[in-house]
Amino acid sequence: MKASARAHSNIALIKYWGKRNSELKLPHNGSISLTLDALYTDTEVHFSSDFEKDQLWLDGNLTSDKASSRVTQLLDRFRHAFHFSEHAQIKSQNSFPTAAGLASSASGFAALVASVNQALNLQLSPQELSLWARLGSGSASRSIFGGFVEWKRGENADGTDSFASPIATPDWDVAMVVLVLNPEEKAVSSSIGMQRTVDTSPLYAAWLEGIEQDLCHMRKAIQSQNFETVGQLMEHNALKMHATALAAQPAVLYWSPASVQTIHWVQHLREQGLPVYLTMDAGPNVKLLVKEKHLSELLKAIETQGQIQESIVCRPGPGVSSKSQ
Ligand code: PMV
Repeated sequence: MKASARAHSNIALIKYWGKRNSELKLPHNGSISLTLDALYTDTEVHFSSDFEKDQLWLDGNLTSDKASSRVTQLLDRFRHAFHFSEHAQIKSQNSFPTAAGLASSASGFAALVASVNQALNLQLSPQELSLWARLGSGSASRSIFGGFVEWKRGENADGTDSFASPIATPDWDVAMVVLVLNPEEKAVSSSIGMQRTVDTSPLYAAWLEGIEQDLCHMRKAIQSQNFETVGQLMEHNALKMHATALAAQPAVLYWSPASVQTIHWVQHLREQGLPVYLTMDAGPNVKLLVKEKHLSELLKAIETQGQIQESIVCRPGPGVSSKSQ
């Protein structure tokens, strides 16, 4: 009844943006991501009839019932589906500072479902783990797998065909550098941001209209290891997502002044001949995609940028792993 798991975070190259069913976390559109080696969550789960309720420790601190409610709701689903009543103590540790504003829900929920699966010997397949992780947080469905991953939108109303799977490609010498910026802005959660966009943004229809083409081009560019196309499409798709959010009412603006400064700087680096591309999620931080051979030049350039507090160099990372204790 005790197990641990490690799952790595992922960053979307084609974004998941908008739910068609919030309860089941079913997306309006498919997405493609890269799993990262340096950002991960280690989770230990212990089920026992001695525990009166579920308890979650995050980076050593016991969280409030409100903060752990998404975890409890997912465990309720497990208890219902697999007919058991024990509660759990969960200890989760991120390899990166939670306060840095980096999304930890993807690695967090992927590690949680893998450790529950192991602790209770449920023998779920990777595909089933992806479905379960999706119920915690949409992007977590992709963190079950390593490397480049696609989460299909699916068609079924019950969500049984909305899960992720890896995109087969040989090892690739790319790096993603996560830039932690001086935020200056209060974050709007991804859930609230995407919901408001779906409900009020006149640009959301255009987002959905172009998404199948973006997915198809990205899939092909990854398979043929065409770095320029992957980078250009990744940046285009991220800016398009932010454009839909900016056109929501009230506007969802994730960028801080430091984000805008960084976007200009990346464009400048490219004009100077350094092939580097950016993406951004539901927050002010910027992530850069670069080939290994240009990484040291990029890291030198990063040192000149005062708005960058910290940079974390990541390479393609593995899928989830778990062990009994
Ligand atoms: O899984 P969530 O609810 O954290 O949503 C993630 C949304 C984005 O990070 C903006 C895009 C994505 O595909 O990861």
